[in-house]
Amino acid sequence: MFKKDVYIGRRKELKKIMNKGIALFLGNVDSPMNCADNIFHFRQDSSFLYFFGIDHPGMAAIIDFESGEEILFGNDVDIEDIIWMGVQPLLKDKAAKVGIEKTAPFNQAIEAANRAVSQGRQVHFLPPYRGESKIILGDMLGMHPSKVNAYRSLELVKAVIKLRSVKDDYEIAEIEKACKVGYEMHVTAMKMAIAGELEQRISGLIEAIPLKYGGHYSFPVILTQNGQTLHNHEHSGILKEGRLMLTDCGAESQMRYASDFTRTTPVNGKFTQKQKEIYQLVLDANNKATELSKPGISYQKIHLDVAKVIAAGLKDLGLMKGDIDAAVKAGAHAMFFPHGLGHMMGLDVHDMEDLGQIYVGYDDVTRPIDQFGTAYLRLGRKLETGFVITNEPGIYFIPALIDKWQNEKINSDFINFDKVNEYRDFGGIRLEDDLLITENGCRLLGERVPITIEEVEAAVGK
Ligand code: GLY
Ligand code: MN
Ligand code: MN
Repeated sequence: MFKKDVYIGRRKELKKIMNKGIALFLGNVDSPMNCADNIFHFRQDSSFLYFFGIDHPGMAAIIDFESGEEILFGNDVDIEDIIWMGVQPLLKDKAAKVGIEKTAPFNQAIEAANRAVSQGRQVHFLPPYRGESKIILGDMLGMHPSKVNAYRSLELVKAVIKLRSVKDDYEIAEIEKACKVGYEMHVTAMKMAIAGELEQRISGLIEAIPLKYGGHYSFPVILTQNGQTLHNHEHSGILKEGRLMLTDCGAESQMRYASDFTRTTPVNGKFTQKQKEIYQLVLDANNKATELSKPGISYQKIHLDVAKVIAAGLKDLGLMKGDIDAAVKAGAHAMFFPHGLGHMMGLDVHDMEDLGQIYVGYDDVTRPIDQFGTAYLRLGRKLETGFVITNEPGIYFIPALIDKWQNEKINSDFINFDKVNEYRDFGGIRLEDDLLITENGCRLLGERVPITIEEVEAAVGK
């Protein structure tokens, strides 16, 4: 937990933006895996953590923007709980650690919200993403859980995004800790990339790494020789010489800040010539994005500039053809690079995605581009000092997509399908780093995981 002044300060900033009604913040509850007492790993809601810092299930909080009052709700354990869970800190002690004086049992949060609703006061809340939270909010607000999301407060959503988007130094320090653990996860995977090794053994071992530092993975590990499937959580393969192992994973620090890196490693540590050419192109694209990232430039523009690097390189290799600007304008690069360049990162790996990506990644000036591939860009708006973002270009050969485009003659002026078909079993390459936007540019967060061809080859089996 940060010092209590951090949480007091964050709530003070929120109160400067919001001035009417109350905000109801709901923490997460324990979620049963297969029966009530056998639970999934507990993960606190990130906005609750941001303003109230308490990493414990079954909490809620209310901020009254008119009176300034703040109340923390939760239940103290009774003797039966103590028998199973041990003595727990008292609610009032937890509240004191984050600068809140007033506490009340959890069910009083429901009563307080009901009362505010009946008085016709605005009750601001963030959109719930878990079934349990929808049910609790439904009770609090007197509506069916399925209706709750429609009543989330856009004003509160925008205020929270404004505050959480710019990271403070002590948040950067936490992200750097997560990066250090992410580094260890990646070099461990690279070391193990030897033919005959099981994907599930590597993914299982690297998943355990953040646990030993008191954290957790920041999202389920992606580790596969079928990197052309972008979010592939299927780990049943056996590593084979000649294939590429794509690993996309990161850690959460003890304070739940994330890291998120991707590396692609040749099994047995030697790239083929064909792999080297595509790998170097993805690395050039990644380096280009780092070079361009600075305050005032939109990530949408950087995404499109990176797409041009990719299209130009693919043209040099004979896979694309024609005018590069026209090809990118037409979206032809997206057959190879069908996702966005990156996203915000912080307390969530895809930071604040629960609040609505359109409000996190876009604004009135930069709107999403509704074209296949670029439409998946999560972050398009102008970068600002203090943003933490990912830089994750990739090139993939997705047989089903190649067939569709070839059959339907999509962008056939820009793609040499005969040549592309020679790469059908190539897989995919993605290279992802985490960046902090600084006053004059950006800097990589954490020690850079081995990334040049020489570094990656040397890391295998080491
Ligand atoms: N976790 C997938 C990503 O890199 O965004
Ligand atoms: Mn990733
Ligand atoms: Mn990412």
